[in-house]
Amino acid sequence: MKDKTAFVCQECGHESSKWLGKCPGCNNWNTFVEERKFKAKEPRNGSLSGGMSAVVPITEVESSEANRYQTGIKELDKVLGGGLVVGSLVLVGGEPGIGKSTLVLQMCHEISKRYGTVLYISGEESVQQIKLRANRLNALSKDLLIVSETNIGLIEKHIEEQKPKAVVIDSIQTMYHEDIPSAPGSVSQVRENAAKLMYLSKGKGVSIFLIGHVTKEGALAGPRVLEHLVDTVLYFEGDKNHNFRILRSHKNRFGPANEIAVFEMRENGLIEVENPSEVFLSERTADTSGSIIVAAIEGTRPFLVEIQALVSPSYFGIPQRRCSGVDYNRFTLLSAVLEKRGGYNVGNQDIFVNVAGGVSIDEPAVDLGVVLAIASNIKDVPADPKTVVFGEVGLAGEVRAVSQVSERIKEAERLGFTKCVIPESNVKGINLKSVSIKIVGVRNIREALQTVF
Ligand code: TYD
Ligand code: MG
Repeated sequence: MKDKTAFVCQECGHESSKWLGKCPGCNNWNTFVEERKFKAKEPRNGSLSGGMSAVVPITEVESSEANRYQTGIKELDKVLGGGLVVGSLVLVGGEPGIGKSTLVLQMCHEISKRYGTVLYISGEESVQQIKLRANRLNALSKDLLIVSETNIGLIEKHIEEQKPKAVVIDSIQTMYHEDIPSAPGSVSQVRENAAKLMYLSKGKGVSIFLIGHVTKEGALAGPRVLEHLVDTVLYFEGDKNHNFRILRSHKNRFGPANEIAVFEMRENGLIEVENPSEVFLSERTADTSGSIIVAAIEGTRPFLVEIQALVSPSYFGIPQRRCSGVDYNRFTLLSAVLEKRGGYNVGNQDIFVNVAGGVSIDEPAVDLGVVLAIASNIKDVPADPKTVVFGEVGLAGEVRAVSQVSERIKEAERLGFTKCVIPESNVKGINLKSVSIKIVGVRNIREALQTVF
């Protein structure tokens, strides 16, 4: 009998009976690869233990705080929501070379010191290579076991034999299942192997880390097909040519999503940065126009970042709009609001906006900072270096309330700022006696422009 095949998008897992240039699932081009269909042998009856699960009233379920391992890396614990949950499946994604293996190896060392056996399974590097890295990281403990293996069946055996507390699979794209005819790294392999590991982690109560590469072009099966399967998704952001790395939780069943941690890559591994605001502001030059400090919140943590803008006359037909670190659509919209509601002519100007330090921020409170940074550069007037701003900007030019105001103000106070420009509607929620910083409420961008310049 002829094997059934299907074309599968390597980016999102969309299946089609014929080859397509553009995936209707995720709109990426050239992502379809022919794979032989594979039927998993295990019965999938939906229960993690294999048998039929009991149905119980919700009031009778015993609630217990999730059992957690402290990884010894404080910032990583925070991103995980307070430590690594026993029996959880965590996906760590990021571009090659960004530091996934480094961080995970450091963590393995700490966990093995505290709780016992940890098994590091590498499909990319030989045990000698891992040893070299561990030497540099000073991550040598006798309970940290390493093995070079790519066959998922044998990996299962290793886990059963060693009974580790935690397992690392580096990387999921190099693992293969003998029964699946397609190549390692294809969507069917990645998905099946991850599902197998998920059953193992839940069944045996072992915490498993899956490392997954994501390339900008999505050349390998994007770990995105795994996101719904795992408990926690952590992504490394940042430029591998710079020293700072941001680890962000995109999804977390055991804690807040969008929590971030900042690390610095040094000679001897990744070092936690406990005060990200100080790092993000460290290279700032006061007295240059086009720079505004914003108090942003990612997850539960406030931090200050510098928004930079550069506006220059456009010499080509269509003015350029470029940004990094903020949402592009948001940025173009804010440029239009500044033109129409603020009275600044930007129609024939190129505008570039950047968040210093390589961090990207996806919350509306940076809107006011973007608008003011652009205006500052157009006027060529620097803002007061001790002023922090935040607020969402609407299409009518109004400045709208944002959440977690007191955390933002506290962070600005802590770093020695003296003035805070915030949405007027947020002012009444603040106990003005308890803050030492000067608070200025603004209703629209015109008022904001007046107070800042
Ligand atoms: P790595 O963890 O191998 O990346 P990934 O697993 O995400 O592909 O990190 C590799 C980079 O980190 C490499 O360019 C060298 C650098 N590095 C250091 O700067 N210091 C160190 O102590 C280590 C182990 C790596
Ligand atoms: Mg690696």
